[in-house]
Amino acid sequence: MTDEERLARAVAPLLEWFSANKRDLPWRKCRTPYSALVAEFMLQQTRVEAVKARYVAFLRQFPTAEALAAADEDEVFKCWEGLGYYTRARNLHRAAKRIACEGFPATWVGVKSLPGVGDYTAGAVCSIALGLKEPAVDGNVLRILTRLLADPSNIDDLAVKRRFRAMLAAVYPENCADFCEGLMELGALVCVPNGAPTCGACPWVTLCKAHEEGKETAFPVRLPKRERRVVDATVLVLSCGDKFALEKRKKGLLSGLFGFPFFEGEMDPAQFGKVMDCRRAKHVFTHVEWHMTGYLVEASEMSCDYLWKTAAEIEASCAIPSAFNAFKQWIEK
Ligand code: ADE
Repeated sequence: MTDEERLARAVAPLLEWFSANKRDLPWRKCRTPYSALVAEFMLQQTRVEAVKARYVAFLRQFPTAEALAAADEDEVFKCWEGLGYYTRARNLHRAAKRIACEGFPATWVGVKSLPGVGDYTAGAVCSIALGLKEPAVDGNVLRILTRLLADPSNIDDLAVKRRFRAMLAAVYPENCADFCEGLMELGALVCVPNGAPTCGACPWVTLCKAHEEGKETAFPVRLPKRERRVVDATVLVLSCGDKFALEKRKKGLLSGLFGFPFFEGEMDPAQFGKVMDCRRAKHVFTHVEWHMTGYLVEASEMSCDYLWKTAAEIEASCAIPSAFNAFKQWIEK
């Protein structure tokens, strides 16, 4: 059997399985192109469980592209708090401004041209919300397809993604929303990474070449990951009266967001005032790890290098990225 034939035979069992087994997720309830775009942005780098509540709250606050377009950026960041990777929030906000002016794009190229939308998100939004036969291929879809076909290609090779996109496009059914989400769902619920695919529950169990060969966990094949760069940093939680110092980060990671005063390398916190407490924390981004030493300092004056806010003001209107979580406890009392 050729790969194309095997894939063509996989469509109907997947649709049937999806209709019986799909999870009841909030973004599957009442869908507009805009709400699908919001869900796909949130799901780009965040797990389904963590997205659920944030998605509902976000759509309650910004139910339409027009409502989001009219918001101010800090308000959008605040509503994004906890999801991390804030560049997504900034891009979604910019996309909403375009959509509010020009309407929602009607083609893959149009969707892909929105800020922050890559091939995968464009495919997902087109398939799920616009009824277009445009596959969305991410790591989960690559995993289930390389297993189905016992394909030894290195999935970090971009040409492999392109080839799978073309193969899927050739077998895309009319019900493209369910097919697209069915592929995602199979990867999330059954054909899971690492040791434990539950092949007994899989609609492809009699079709899967890796299973036939007893080698389901030999796929996907990938190159070893590159290591992350480690950045040592000093973080200051400066208090003065009932206020705390924040800065609007100017460049690099988390730029445009609020954070505690941050210095690369080691520095002496005593120059700012009396050191009350100290703790270390690590935060892991995609390509960088921050190894931070944080100090709680009673500042001798309110330096005008910083914004000074009370804990209540911070809670109400400043999204502090979770990279600083270890130090937030100092302002929460
Ligand atoms: N991951 C990315 N998009 C998704 C969706 N629509 N449903 C479930 N998981 C997803």
